[in-house]
Amino acid sequence: MKKSFCYTALSAAMAVVSLSASARSTQLLEKGWRFTREDNSEFSVPSYDDRLWQAVTVPHDWAIYGPFSWQNDMQKVAIAQDGQKEAMEHAGRTGGLPFVGTGWYRNDIDIPALAPGERVTLKFDGAMSHARVYVNGKEAGYWPYGYNSFYFDITGLVKPGEKNNIAVRLENLPESSRWYPGAGLYRNVHLIVTDGAYIPVWGTYITTPNVSKEWAKVDVATEVRLPAGADEAQYSLRTSVYSPSGEMVKSVTTPLSDLQYNDSTVRQSFVVDRPALWSPDAPQLYEAKSELIGNGKVRDEYLTTFGIRSIEIRPNEGFFLNGEKTVFKGVCNHHDLGPLGAAVNDAAIRRQIRILKDMGCNAIRTSHNMPAPELVKACDEMGMMVMAESFDEWRRPKVKNGYNLLFDEWAEKDLTNLIKNYRNSPSVVMWCIGNEVSEQWHPGDVKTAYFLQNICHRLDPTRPVTQGMDGPDAVLNNNFAAIMDVAGFNYRPFKYPEAYQKLPQQIVLGTETASTVSSRGVYKFPVERKAMATYDDHQASGYDVEHCGWSNLPEDDFIQHEDLPYCIGEFVWTGFDYLGEPTPYYTNWPSHSSLFGIVDLAGIPKDRYYLYRSHWNPEASTLHILPHWTFPGREGEVTPVFVYTNHPEAELFINGVSQGRRKKDLSVGIDSSYTEAAQKSFERQKRYRLMWMDTRYEPGTVTVVAYDAAGTPVDTAEVRTAGKPHHLVVTADRDSYVADGRDMAFINVKVVDKDGNLCPDASQKVKFAVKGAGTYHAAANGDASSLESFQEPQMSLFHGQLTAVVRTGEKPGEIVFTASAPGVKSARITLNSTK
Ligand code: GAL
Repeated sequence: MKKSFCYTALSAAMAVVSLSASARSTQLLEKGWRFTREDNSEFSVPSYDDRLWQAVTVPHDWAIYGPFSWQNDMQKVAIAQDGQKEAMEHAGRTGGLPFVGTGWYRNDIDIPALAPGERVTLKFDGAMSHARVYVNGKEAGYWPYGYNSFYFDITGLVKPGEKNNIAVRLENLPESSRWYPGAGLYRNVHLIVTDGAYIPVWGTYITTPNVSKEWAKVDVATEVRLPAGADEAQYSLRTSVYSPSGEMVKSVTTPLSDLQYNDSTVRQSFVVDRPALWSPDAPQLYEAKSELIGNGKVRDEYLTTFGIRSIEIRPNEGFFLNGEKTVFKGVCNHHDLGPLGAAVNDAAIRRQIRILKDMGCNAIRTSHNMPAPELVKACDEMGMMVMAESFDEWRRPKVKNGYNLLFDEWAEKDLTNLIKNYRNSPSVVMWCIGNEVSEQWHPGDVKTAYFLQNICHRLDPTRPVTQGMDGPDAVLNNNFAAIMDVAGFNYRPFKYPEAYQKLPQQIVLGTETASTVSSRGVYKFPVERKAMATYDDHQASGYDVEHCGWSNLPEDDFIQHEDLPYCIGEFVWTGFDYLGEPTPYYTNWPSHSSLFGIVDLAGIPKDRYYLYRSHWNPEASTLHILPHWTFPGREGEVTPVFVYTNHPEAELFINGVSQGRRKKDLSVGIDSSYTEAAQKSFERQKRYRLMWMDTRYEPGTVTVVAYDAAGTPVDTAEVRTAGKPHHLVVTADRDSYVADGRDMAFINVKVVDKDGNLCPDASQKVKFAVKGAGTYHAAANGDASSLESFQEPQMSLFHGQLTAVVRTGEKPGEIVFTASAPGVKSARITLNSTK
């Protein structure tokens, strides 16, 4: 299908988008911004001289450049949810990065000459936080919640056909977050110019009330705005539906003569024969083109992407997508993108989704706030279900200056924008109104849950609503869980049976599970299950046996969701490590990021990734051995070996000597494994991992041979003791890149011995050089205790690996990336960036 309106990313200094009378123009305000951390009311005055301010491109996160310091937002508090009774100095809770304080952005943008009645809208996908927006020195509006999208009609403030000054003041309060929120204009800003007759922002609402393989009903409700005094009879709305292959399926034109009796909304229905249904495996997308026609001309044209799919929760049976039972194999993710901070980037988001999909993950919970539009779009296109969340806090505080300050005035507005923004996205299958809110402990406060859920129902009756609750004893007895469409529980899976017994919904969702902690490449001995273990190196064991005081190991959730038919799946805390919340290292600086991730902050899978993959993606062959086998000094000591595999059985060899065959023990049931003794002896793990607990370390080769159910050998893997670091190896995440100045290559850098074995303890500082059609952007190594800058073109390897990020330029060509480190041979890769 040909898109007839323009979506441009022009430099503000470039010529304006020319407007035909028939269409809207949308401009991405990406370039030409100036930025300062100072604060002065003069900054909103258009004539203010900002030439000495820093030139930046938006999306921009001012805090990710550091430097790290324990003094940045040091919170002296007792974290009640984590069971702390007395206030302690939490350094690093919000990442130890300088996000607190004010920042200003200014830009002089061209606004086209406007025909009479034309309207100008400024839309922010998210601005962190307390955004005050000025246009030509006058305040256009205020939006405090940093995660939400919002817009202002600025028609009355602009000077058509001239330069117009946009100034944005942002302010982040101390103690306003439990994690790193990012700072600044960290999401995109758009300028939209329309005719006086137009479809407002998020003005369409498309639902598919009846879906079958043979046909589907598509209902399209379109809000329409006409100029004051317009004769409705002269207007009509033409909506055309296009198939995933771009063919027009149907088109309906409706006169607007009855608009005033219909809340300015036009309702049209379509029947689509043999629809291509959306699902994570087949993310088929349709498009609706809305054309607002007035006096014989197309006044506005608006495109909406949607999917045809059905969702349903059936008591006792579970969640059904297109009539098929679908279990949530989900992860919770924060919004930050590791070394990029909160600055949104499409390539980084899509890389995360690719990694998760390969693991068998089918859903993301946007914990605990509104996602970026880029994430939801990528989930629509790549096939990933989304639980879209709004708040971590309602009226009762978790952090002093958190959302509790805003709730009364803003909750309804914030939830409304979330729902209107994403209610056409097929990937979004559930709304989440809150996370572990303190209200759950106060019986009368269920009214607030009811209020929020009703807003969701009013704006979108098609999706169920949940919230993540961590106080089962309270919420099972005070209506909090009973009123929700879906009762979501954070941790404590042993309470699911009681929840099922007491609740009317007859299904249970694990909104948050596991919170297992581990560090990539780090192994602690002896191998024991531990809660809140801390070590001098500020890491956690890669054997995947450590968790928090309130949480558990992956298998404690697997078993519930596999054996209890009313469990509809889980959202693991978390898919990726994120900045801030370095539990259990609350007071142990340096520690700037979480250890919860299945994948580390650099996007490199930890061992746990293969455990989830073996269980969630059983069709793919997984045969993963841990730990690495390079432990100089451990000769003769007990060094257990674990194998994560989708196969039922395997035999392990150390230097050719069999260590015995192990089979997954499917006889382990829920009830028999609740006890402390069963936990200590890894009973549940025996059902999902193959473990050799008594093996002793000797340098050489560990080999594993996997057998299928019939006892036939089907796969083999090995890990060898590494020799001295010899050379670097660099591998890029994709084959080619787009020369748009935004695309990014994620390059894995590792050091290996002369035979190619990873040197798992190498920590050399690697220097990066980038030549040609791209620039160096950032790097991360996944070490939560590192204070190295993400932006310097050098970084130490963490357990032999790191990720360097290269950004494409706007001109196509070759990009040559070189990594070098003392004492080893350097490595180089040439990337292609094309238009
Ligand atoms: C939960 C909370 C998450 C995160 C997690 C860590 O209680 O909802 O935001 O703090 O604990 O285990």
